[in-house]
Order: sequence, then structure tokens, then C-alpha cells
Amino acid sequence: MTPDKSDLRPWVVVNMAMTADGKIATAGREVTTFGSPRDLRALYSLRATADAVLCGARTVEETGATLGNGGEAFLRRRIRAGLSEMPLRVVVSGRASLDPSAAIWKAKGSPIVVLISSEAPAGARKRLEPLADAVWVSPSKGLDLKSALAWLRARWGVQRLVCEGGGSLNAAMFRSGLVDELRVTLCPRVFGGNASPTIADGSPGILGNAFRLGRPEMRCHGGELYVTWKSVRAESTNGQSGKPRSLADGSRRPAPPR
Ligand SMILES: NC(=O)c1ccc[n+]([C@@H]2O[C@H](COP(=O)([O-])OP(=O)(O)OC[C@H]3O[C@@H](n4cnc5c(N)ncnc54)[C@H](OP(=O)(O)O)[C@@H]3O)[C@@H](O)[C@H]2O)c1
Repeated sequence: MTPDKSDLRPWVVVNMAMTADGKIATAGREVTTFGSPRDLRALYSLRATADAVLCGARTVEETGATLGNGGEAFLRRRIRAGLSEMPLRVVVSGRASLDPSAAIWKAKGSPIVVLISSEAPAGARKRLEPLADAVWVSPSKGLDLKSALAWLRARWGVQRLVCEGGGSLNAAMFRSGLVDELRVTLCPRVFGGNASPTIADGSPGILGNAFRLGRPEMRCHGGELYVTWKSVRAESTNGQSGKPRSLADGSRRPAPPR
């Protein structure tokens, strides 16, 4: 049976740097970048395999991320892989609170798409509309990430998406069962502090019985450990990455990689 278009979504890879004590930034958010130059190259290499990069509003504001392609060498990789020159840039901002003066708006490149909830204040939405190439409004209460991903696939042709946090967005992605792969760079630092953000933040019990990951693949470079897990569900579909997947039928095998 051919899958309904609305059931299709991109393959989703969450990519994060984490300290040895499980933090992704300091409590006061003073330190937000702490991976090595190699880790940064790994991030750009991963982006070079993706049609789109996804981030939460606070990450975009606090880190000044512009979600580009990482420069000429990575651009060439994208072209060789048959991708556009730059990944589509997608920012989640339920209340449309994304700062109109954030660095991302000043960085020329690929289109910027903002995903907002239907309850976002009209004024905030109006401020973003002239800046963004598209503002997607969730059809149901809150922000339905599943529908958003289906729209990104149908409207923008996004088959492979890299989600780069932060913890609030990641938690929602895990909670909605929308993560196929988790890549973590474990960095030789300890930040400490109850208030320091982690890979998946939110209220206690948010993930119920936990989001389950399969067997890790690990590489060690310098002081860093690079770990990749597929979700148990993705692994059960033979662990093939980079392919469109159907939400409707978890057992359906994805198409071949590109
Ligand atoms: N170490 C790393 O690899 C790494 C990577 C990324 C980020 N970080 C760190 O993580 C921190 C930011 O994380 P964070 O958790 O505070 O923020 P975040 O996830 O980047 O952004 C949170 C905002 O995104 C929107 N959002 C996220 N999920 C949503 C959902 N399900 N529904 C509706 N809106 C949603 C909301 O915007 P509205 O307020 O507009 O509703 C929310 O306030 C920063 O300190 C950053 O440095 C670290």
C-alpha cells in the first residue's frame, strides 16, 4: 500500500555535545560551545548530509547560531550528495517569541522557516512573518511536531533532518517519538549544577517509560567520545539511515539512502 503523504516525515538525527556530567551548557548559559574543532567539523559534516537543520528558539538566540552549511568544503560535499547548497533552516518557536534581532536573520543563505503554535500571540507572529520565508502554524492546540515534520517533507522536500537542540525541543521530539538517531559528543568537561540544561529537559516523567535507544557505535578522538545510537524502532527497521520513514507503519522499510 502506498503511504499517505501526510504520514511521511524526514529521518531525524539529534546531534548534541554533552559534558561528562550530562550537561549541554552551564547553568547561567555563559558557556554554550565547548566541543573541539573536530566536533564542529563533525557537526558540519552531519549537516552536509541533511536537507534541513532544526533548532529551538532559545538555542538560536543564545548561541547566535545561523544554521549554515559550514563553508566551501561542506558545500561541495552537499553538491556531490545531490543536496541544495545550504540546508533549509527551521526554528521552533511555539509562542513566536523568537527574537527578530537574532543573528540568524542577518545570515544570508537558505530559507528560514519558523514553526509556531496556533495560540502564538498575533503581534509576535506578525513580527516574524516579514522576516521568515514561511511561518507554519500548528493545526491543533500546542505545536504538533509530527504534523510539522510531515509538512516539511511534503512542502520543502525534507527527507533527512538534523535537530540541534536545545533540551526543550529535543524532549518534545523524543516525547513525540520523532527521533531516529541520537549522536552525542561526550566532552571532557564537568559543568555541574541542577539548573544546567541537558539533552532532553522538561517536567519530570516527561518521557514516561523512557525513549529507548539501540546499540551504540563509538569512536574516540582526543579527549572526546563520539557516540551514535539509533532508536530501538529505527534499529528494528534494519537501522538504515537517511531515508524517509512512514509514521503510519513503523515496520515499513525506508527507501535506499541517497
Ligand atoms: N551542547 C549542545 O550541543 C547544545 C546544542 C543546542 C543548544 N544547547 C544549549 O541549550 C540551551 C537552550 O536550550 P533550551 O531548552 O533552553 O531551549 P530550546 O529548546 O533551544 O528552545 C526553547 C524554545 O523553543 C520553542 N520550543 C521548543 N520546543 C517546543 C515545542 N514542543 N512546542 C512549542 N515550542 C517549542 C519554544 O519557543 P517559544 O518560547 O517561542 O514558545 C521554547 O521556548 C542553550 O543554553 C544552548 O546553548 C546546547
